[in-house]
Amino acid sequence: MKEKAVPAPLVPRPVDREDPAATLARDGIASLVELKAATMACRECPLGETATQSVIGEGDAKAKLMLVGEQPGDQEDLQGRPFVGPAGRLLARALQEAGIPPEKVFVSNAVKHFKFELRGKRRIHKSPTQREAAACLHWLEDEIALVRPPALVALGSTAARSIMGRAVPVMAERGHWLARPDGRQVLITLHPSALLRVQEGREEAFALFVQDLSKARKLFR
Ligand code: URA
Repeated sequence: MKEKAVPAPLVPRPVDREDPAATLARDGIASLVELKAATMACRECPLGETATQSVIGEGDAKAKLMLVGEQPGDQEDLQGRPFVGPAGRLLARALQEAGIPPEKVFVSNAVKHFKFELRGKRRIHKSPTQREAAACLHWLEDEIALVRPPALVALGSTAARSIMGRAVPVMAERGHWLARPDGRQVLITLHPSALLRVQEGREEAFALFVQDLSKARKLFR
């Protein structure tokens, strides 16, 4: 018989945005390998029950720049790797055009499990709730503490809220750097999936996305 899902805790685990290392120490995680194992077992929200596996970040483990999306998509869930689907390909192209070597960044997500709804056999992306993102937040802070990037890019509103700890008006703040309490700089921009949904003016939308990302080029000189 299938085991019953462990109910999500009413109160998500606390994080310390002034000192992510404190969150890491409390979680008892010493490496990205341990983080993968811990997130695989995580049932602090219901998403781990239905996803294939957890997806943590990957890339340069000493990157100067960490890019954070919302959650893994269908392809990412199946492969266990972030940004390997259409949004990831668009992101890699935009980074190249912005003069940021994709192999020198670390890419991750605010939420580590894929949330979807079934339509027939298709798994359709569903946005995580604030509670689900809050439950996952300590894992993201652990990643920040392990990789220790001086700067991050928040790709869209879920990532921006998780990283900054408050709602960020993405359209008003895109292309701007905000400061976290731990001193890390956070560049705000759209999620690449939003560009994939643009019907008219996709090239212009892509050019603006590249323009936002190019604000982080200075880190790679
Ligand atoms: N969208 C995301 O936010 N993250 C991924 O890894 C893929 C698509």
